[in-house]
Amino acid sequence: MAAHNSLMNDAPLAPIAFAEFVRGLPKAELHMHIEGSLEPELMFALAKRNGITLPFASVEEIRAAYDFSNLQDFLDIYYQGAGVLITEADFKDLALAYFQRLAADGGTHAEIFFDPQTHTDRGIAFDTVMNGLLAGMDEAEKTLGVTSKLILCFLRHLSEDAAFETLEQAKPWLAKLAGVGLDSSEVGHPPAKFARVLQASRDLGLKVVAHAGEEGPPAYVWEAIDLVKVDRIDHGNRALEDETLTARLVKDGITLTVCPLSNLKLCGVPSLDVHPLKRMLDLGLKATVNSDDPAYFGGYLLENYLATAGAVGLTRDDIVTLAKNSFAGSFLSEGEKAERIAGVEAYAAAH
Ligand code: ADE
Ligand code: ZN
Repeated sequence: MAAHNSLMNDAPLAPIAFAEFVRGLPKAELHMHIEGSLEPELMFALAKRNGITLPFASVEEIRAAYDFSNLQDFLDIYYQGAGVLITEADFKDLALAYFQRLAADGGTHAEIFFDPQTHTDRGIAFDTVMNGLLAGMDEAEKTLGVTSKLILCFLRHLSEDAAFETLEQAKPWLAKLAGVGLDSSEVGHPPAKFARVLQASRDLGLKVVAHAGEEGPPAYVWEAIDLVKVDRIDHGNRALEDETLTARLVKDGITLTVCPLSNLKLCGVPSLDVHPLKRMLDLGLKATVNSDDPAYFGGYLLENYLATAGAVGLTRDDIVTLAKNSFAGSFLSEGEKAERIAGVEAYAAAH
């Protein structure tokens, strides 16, 4: 039996296409807003289920409206779309649909953002959102084997008081939350505006992340690391404008959750071939690849890997590094991280 096994192991493996290699590689997604995974088809179905009239006549008309010049353009339509989410079942269906896409892309773990204020401000109970998302996460783990964690984001265009109110609502759910984040309109709303509520969140045992350097200046990334002491930076692209900041991010090994197709769709880069992802890796930054709002930006996790690899010339080693970074930068336990990273290495060695 042993001899037979060793023969099998020594047999040359059939070459598989690069895309199939990347698809099969275990990967985590660390930057994905669940409301941003609402596909137009589901948006229509939920609108019908909830008796809501959408300002679009068809799925094609919705997709045609996804033509953005900047972050705010996108946010306006994204908040409008989220208005079809009413019941626990809606949030569960939304989450499950995302996890199915992630599993098909070879994603095995996700740390998903949600924006409770987008829902509570229109009369949806905090508990409805939580129960629905958690039901979807549970079912995804049971049926797809995809594990996940939840990160509550404070909307930075709203006030610090509103963020504190949301943190109060989250207190009964602390055991179900991995962390808090900061999203929405970045420019004019620096991390410092939320330093106290983020510290209060940390004091409750939550991890802290923040979008910084997506459209905002390097100064916002400095604030995120020095003042807020974030556990990860979401995006971070504009940090590259400041050499001292870049060196600091490398030295501290701070994970950047980079979102290439999002950057393209929101005009952060004029084309994918000038995307800084390759440069980030070459500089030694702990970059990861993520989809941000895949229903709006034209691609889920795998498409982000493949489109960027083709555009900037990522090597096979780069791809493996990105997958390892995705687990190393996750909020899994140290033991789980080591196990998942060993899984990436085993897959790379076998293919
Ligand atoms: N909310 C959803 N997607 C976002 C992004 N890319 N930046 C900031 N806030 C967001
Ligand atoms: Zn984001």
